[in-house]
This record gives sequence, C-alpha cells and structure tokens, in this order.
Amino acid sequence: MASDAFTREALQRYADAERAPFETALREIVEIPTVSVEPDRKAEVARGAEYAAGLLRRFGAETRILATPGHPIVVGRFQRNAAWPTVTLYNHLDVQPAEMEDGWDAAPFKFAATDGRYYGRGTTDDKGPALSALWGARYALQHGARINLQVLWELEEEIGSPNFESTIRRESASLQTDTAIVSDTVWVSRGRPAAPAGLRGLQGFRFTLEFGKSDQHSGVTGGAARNPVTEICALIAECVDGRTGRIKIPGFYKDVVPPTRQELSDMKRCGFTTAGFKKDHHFKSLRTNDPMEIMKRVWCLPTFEVHGIAGGYQGPGVKTVVPPRATAIVSCRLVPDMKEAKVIKMVRDFARRKNPDVQIEVEHGLPAYRGRTTGPHADAIRAAMKFAFGREPSFVREGGSIGAVLSMERVLKSPVFFLGLSLPEHGYHAPNENYDWSQASGGMAAFADYFRRVGEMA
Ligand code: BES
Ligand code: MN
Ligand code: MN
Repeated sequence: MASDAFTREALQRYADAERAPFETALREIVEIPTVSVEPDRKAEVARGAEYAAGLLRRFGAETRILATPGHPIVVGRFQRNAAWPTVTLYNHLDVQPAEMEDGWDAAPFKFAATDGRYYGRGTTDDKGPALSALWGARYALQHGARINLQVLWELEEEIGSPNFESTIRRESASLQTDTAIVSDTVWVSRGRPAAPAGLRGLQGFRFTLEFGKSDQHSGVTGGAARNPVTEICALIAECVDGRTGRIKIPGFYKDVVPPTRQELSDMKRCGFTTAGFKKDHHFKSLRTNDPMEIMKRVWCLPTFEVHGIAGGYQGPGVKTVVPPRATAIVSCRLVPDMKEAKVIKMVRDFARRKNPDVQIEVEHGLPAYRGRTTGPHADAIRAAMKFAFGREPSFVREGGSIGAVLSMERVLKSPVFFLGLSLPEHGYHAPNENYDWSQASGGMAAFADYFRRVGEMA
C-alpha cells in the first residue's frame, strides 16, 4: 500500500477532485422521494434502490437488490481477497416525509447547493453520509486497504426496519461479515465529533377514541355527548406530565439503568451547550436549561411523546360540533434495560384502566442499544475522526434509534461501530434539512482512514 496515499492532504485532494460527481450523485438520489412510510411512494422507493445499485456498480461493486415484504435492501459487494476481513457499511436511503407546509423554504425533494451546503429531504439523514462513506471506501479500496467491503443500504429504517432482520437472516449465508460500520448518527455540534455509546429504542402506539359516527351540533348534544378529543387529551395527561415530561405510568422507570460515573464525566466533556441545542433546533423554550439535565433526558431517559393528535375541526373560526373520534400518535423512547413487551403492557393496561374505551394499536418496537467504546475498532474510530476532523469523538449515548443495528449484531454476529457525520444544525427530520461539504469531505477522509486501519488489524 502506498503510504503517502493516506495522508490528510492526499485525501483532501481526492475529495476536492470528486466534489462535482459527489454533488451530482447526491442531487440525483435526494430528488428521488424515497419516503418509506407513504404507501403511494412504493415505486419511488424502488427507483431509489435501482439508482443506488447502479451507483454501486459504477464504483465496481457486484450488486443485488433483496426483496422484502416491504421495501427492498440494496447489497453491494467489493470482494478483494478472501484472506482479508469483510467490513459491512450500513446506511439507509429511505427518508422521512416532507411537505412545503411543514415550513420548508424550498421544495423538499428539489436539491439545492449553496456555499457548500446541500438542502433537501434526506441530505443528512442519511443519503449524504451514505455517499460520503462510499466515496471514502472507494479511495481506500483503490489505494490498497486490505479489506473486502459489503455495502448494505436499507430502505425501511425510518419505519423501524420491520423486515430487515428476517431478510438478512434469510440471506445470511451470503452476507457474512467480520464487522459493521454505521453512518447514521449525529455529533454534539460542529467541531465536536461524537460516536454513540448507545442508542435509545422506540415503541410506538396509536390511541383512538370513537363515540359516534359524525359531527353533531354541540348546542344540541354538548354536555351529554362524550367528546373524544377532550378524552384523549385527558388520557394523555394521565400518562405524562406535559410540563416536566415525567411519565406517570406506575413502574415506567423501574428498569432504567442510569448513566455510570464514566458516562457522566464523558457527557460533561463532550461539548454540549444549552445555547447550541436551542439554536440548532430553533427552540424558544425548554423543559430545563441545565445542560447535564438535557443530556440525561435526551440520551439516558425514556420519553412519552405525542407526535400528533387528529380529530375535530381544524379550520378558521369556531365550528360548534362535537366530533365523533380522535386519534393520538404516541411513542416511547426506551433506554437500557427497558423491554418493549413490558412497556407495551404497562402503557396498554394503564391507558385502558384510565379510559376503558380506548383502542390501542401497537407499532413494531425496538429495544435500546449499548455501543462498544473499547477495543481496536473503537480506537480506529477515534483515530479516523482525529485524522479527518482534528478531534477525537466523545463516546456519549445518543437519543435516536436505528433498528438495523441490533439485527446486524444478532444475525450476522458482527460487532457494529459508528462513524456518524451529521450535525444537529443539519435538521434531522426537520424542514430545510441540509448537509455540508465540510462534513462530506471530512467524512470521505475519515472512512478511508478507518477502512485502511481495519485492514491493518492483526
Ligand atoms: N438517524 C436516525 C437515528 C438517530 C437519530 C441516531 C439521532 C442518533 C441520533 C434515524 O434515521 C431515525 O430517525 N430513526 C428513527 C427510527 C424509528 C422510526 C424506529 C427514530 O429514531 O425516530
Ligand atoms: Mn437516519
Ligand atoms: Mn431518521
């Protein structure tokens, strides 16, 4: 291997030379609206998979598109030498829904590049990091990194990866890998890299109350008619204290494992600030302004979150009806050692006791994940981040969830590591989601360096 190929300068020259084709590929893939939750987008998601497989083939991979009962999984294989370790690179290419009305300044599925910032749904979650990692991988392979590379690109991550585990189990003979690396997590802030020491799990629910068939005049029926919107609000208020976020369901916190002293000290030094958090997420007010308390709540504690309530009149002025039904979409973030089944039972039993008429639909859930922060691969992450960005990552827990991580550990029996490139300011799931060239070009260098290091491990 040419030793001068893996200098920071050489990688910067590579990134600069590749900027135009990188931006073209990011444009093309962002403009395919791969929204996995919307049934009407099924063909677009399939088109995204085809595009991704074509890109991998242009890079020299052998590709397959694995069918699942839902959206497909794209597999790319760069096989070099059976004596070398196989590294699996995981990203997801499906995205969250986005509409102009959510507050976008420009069409969400129209890519725009201004001053090194890339706008559009999926730019940072997770198409930009996926392509940054791929560009870094290609450099490493072309310059003699002693690994085989397998790319796994999922298209159902944003709906909880319901078919990922069964599909990789079905195909496990052909997906064998020594280790996996995921680029789908977020730093503490620009200049403060982070690698997750854990991820939260998630359990979603839909609560529905229905007491009639149609709107009825509230002057004629109000007072005697049951109001499902009012009752659903009351039910939610039984479950959670809206101001503090404290969950009131008995036993809910029983299995929560608090952060260790080491974790608390890593949190203190990770660079998190309340002002930065408020600015990055455009918040006017928070439940607490204490930075340690914010980090604990976002990374180490469960939540009971209401994502939306539907029911009743939403138009101008007042329409004096009693609505027939109301729905609340709710989820709980889970932390070690909470179990989805236990949470489902607690929430269901409690809600039914408080309102016996509530119908509860349960979504596919994910447990929390504890990351690996020691050993040669974690050290290679530290070194690669330092090489590319000038600073080692903090290993702190993160608050989001990635279903595929536990599945890869379970089925492929391979340890999973993380090299995330997104920043809070990029706006995960938010309007005006964006990514930037500094994270992309640094990401290429970080991945190239990481793959070289994995190839050199004994
Ligand atoms: N990239 C995120 C997960 C994430 C967010 C990791 C923040 C670390 C920090 C991922 O795309 C995501 O949004 N996952 C969903 C999964 C859910 C639908 C099961 C999430 O966390 O809500
Ligand atoms: Mn993601
Ligand atoms: Mn996401």
